[in-house]
Amino acid sequence: PRGASRGEDGVVRLAGVAVTELAEEYGTPLFVIDEDDFRSRCRDMARAFGSADRVHYASKAFLCGEIARWVADEGLSMDVASGGELMVSLHAGFPAERITMHGNNKSVSELRSAVSAGVGHVVVDSMQEIGRLDAVAGELGAVQDVLIRVTVGVEAHTHEFIATAHEDQKFGFSLSGGAAMDAVRAVFAAANLRLVGLHSHIGSQIFEVDGFELAAHRVIGLLREMENEFGAERCAQVTIVDLGGGLGISYLPSDNPPPVDELAAKLTRIVADQSAAAGLSAPTLMVEPGRAIAGPGTVTLYEVGTIKDVRLDGNATRRYVSVDGGMSDNIRTSLYQAEYDARLVSRESSAEPVVARVVGKHCESGDIVIRDTWMPEDVGAGDLLAVAATGAYCYSMSSRYNLLTRPAVVAVRDGESRLVLRRETVEDLLSLEVRQHD
Ligand code: LLP
Repeated sequence: PRGASRGEDGVVRLAGVAVTELAEEYGTPLFVIDEDDFRSRCRDMARAFGSADRVHYASKAFLCGEIARWVADEGLSMDVASGGELMVSLHAGFPAERITMHGNNKSVSELRSAVSAGVGHVVVDSMQEIGRLDAVAGELGAVQDVLIRVTVGVEAHTHEFIATAHEDQKFGFSLSGGAAMDAVRAVFAAANLRLVGLHSHIGSQIFEVDGFELAAHRVIGLLREMENEFGAERCAQVTIVDLGGGLGISYLPSDNPPPVDELAAKLTRIVADQSAAAGLSAPTLMVEPGRAIAGPGTVTLYEVGTIKDVRLDGNATRRYVSVDGGMSDNIRTSLYQAEYDARLVSRESSAEPVVARVVGKHCESGDIVIRDTWMPEDVGAGDLLAVAATGAYCYSMSSRYNLLTRPAVVAVRDGESRLVLRRETVEDLLSLEVRQHD
């Protein structure tokens, strides 16, 4: 987080609050969000893309009422991908007209909730959905603005992208084979839908602009095709090109994502140049960053429990440092081989670093938080470790595996902390039981 620093006593402060106090007050594991970090990334995005409402925070990265209020406050829009994300946003007072609803298999009831709440955009993802949404809007006496999700055949991750290889997936309408044009015809023909833009999402944790560039090129190619078939006047309302999310962040000190300003300037120029080259008026560029807003400003605090030295081939040993959470609060290491950085934060140590693996407390050996790292030799029970950049896709993908209860989430700002999501309790687990004991 931007507001992290180590005090003279060796204890790390997050926005001025000592991690030892946080652990004492709220317990561990604990997600700690640096509120100013989150908000400043919203502002950076808004500035970089020229207007706050063109930036949709992808709430799948992490959402609760407090986050929805920060996003609303900063003027950003919201991307939701389920009825749950929609309801938490609306419940927090997020303005419906700044919400975009996603999903490849939205239920009729989710569509109904979205249209009746008055969401700004629904991103349609299948022919059946175009029919369902048209019917729902008709029932509710509404005309719903929609974007069409286009599968552009570009798949990007971090440093690489693959063109043409990835049309064989569940999202969107393919460009090849004409499915996307069929969707355009269907939306134009639907009495209760208004086509206002095209959408593409090419992947996540992307460091380079090339994948977006090709995606933009292909989306603009479709706009061109639409004008050829329907004429400029009919297409004048189709003003949005949404390039989705995917802006990468730094998980390790060695990661070097491009600054947001730089990436945004390139994307803006690419969309302007390409539409000019296609003889089209410049569309409005929109984006949906989740990780790049929520990721960097949060750390997970864990307390160290047991330590075990395991003999490897030859003479080496690996130190297993167990913490009081694991794959239930961070599945990303086991699911994606994600890499994280952990630090001893409750004190400073000048002990020699040893090769270590940070593991959780779940009943499987794949329950690894950090596969390979270094830890001071003297790290032991009761020490606090902070794992950095856990704000995106950790809590939001958390589970109750082994019936561990979900950690609390606190926000820190200006030397103060406050609870935003309380820790789950055993009572929460028992409350789902239909048969209550007497
Ligand atoms: N828009 C759409 C349509 C998306 O599908 C996603 C992410 C985003 C925006 C936000 O992408 P971001 O800016 O956060 O990269 N669970 C995985 C990431 C899955 C992302 C799915 N879609 C992980 O933990 O790495």
